[in-house]
Amino acid sequence: MAGGNALDLGPAVRNFLDLSDAGGNAIAAMLADAQDRKAARAGWPKGKPDADAPLAGHVLGMIFEKNSTRTRVSFDIAMRQLGGSALILDSGTSQLGRGESIADTARVLSRMVDAIMIRTDDHAKAEELAHYAHVPVINGLTDRSHPCQIVADLLTMVEHGKALPGLEIAWLGDGNNVLHSILEAAALFKFNVRVGTPAGYEPESEFVEMARSAGSKVTLTNDAGEAARGADVVVTDTWVSMGQDHADAKLAAMAPFQVDTDLMALANQNAKFLHCLPAHVGEEVSEAVFEGPQSVVFDEAENRIHAQKAILLWCHGLIG
Ligand code: CP
Ligand code: NVA
Repeated sequence: MAGGNALDLGPAVRNFLDLSDAGGNAIAAMLADAQDRKAARAGWPKGKPDADAPLAGHVLGMIFEKNSTRTRVSFDIAMRQLGGSALILDSGTSQLGRGESIADTARVLSRMVDAIMIRTDDHAKAEELAHYAHVPVINGLTDRSHPCQIVADLLTMVEHGKALPGLEIAWLGDGNNVLHSILEAAALFKFNVRVGTPAGYEPESEFVEMARSAGSKVTLTNDAGEAARGADVVVTDTWVSMGQDHADAKLAAMAPFQVDTDLMALANQNAKFLHCLPAHVGEEVSEAVFEGPQSVVFDEAENRIHAQKAILLWCHGLIG
């Protein structure tokens, strides 16, 4: 328990634990800002601050209880480009790893940094951190969702000429945290999602219902071809997320859902392939698709920087 030393929270803090915390209008504004900032600094050294350095002097604290390459580097570079800086606490070397409570960590960090990002195995920990912090808390991936990834994915789709409302997105493989955030985005932007998973690996029904009740069409199928047919964007992710068992039975069940050239041929001719990375080429995606002309996975990875900047600016009340 937190004890009797809770802070006066003052004006509402903008947390970004899920896409709905910001809502469709704010995310649309984030996508526009991200495109503008990206264009304005084309060709610059990656650590050089944007001309307006809107977060000069601000510090982001990043808590990692799971591995990361893209999220870690993109938030660090995002803060540099916004004129601020970032620091990392990983569970192996911080007191969190020795049992210091989330509540105390939240209250201490709130006095030392201007925003906190957390990547953790348990979404409830991110919620608890946000409850006790008095600075914005950003979800950098939990077992439930990965909202920052999907802002980058939306940015990538828009950059590649896709209008979000009415878009047909196919998801192949495991019904996981990344898919949950895609379904949440579907609810906000009114696109449709065809989810192809083996039986028993469907997404949480809460996210399916969220999208459907907002008017999006969500197809759940155990037939990979049915999911891919006519799609504008084809998306997959690792079959085994961090913290999950490498079960042979799961890998065998996933095999028919590999995104290969035959599956991509069922999608629209100008369909794009997205993957949040890290990829396991030869498992969820074939080498020909991953390295092929429809793959925009490295644009997507770069866009993590531009998306994080927009998320950080929204959290600080500078967008939306
Ligand atoms: N896509 C993504 O979140 O990558 P990392 O796990 O490397 O941060
Ligand atoms: N679903 C994956 C995403 C990694 C960025 C995981 O949670 O491990």
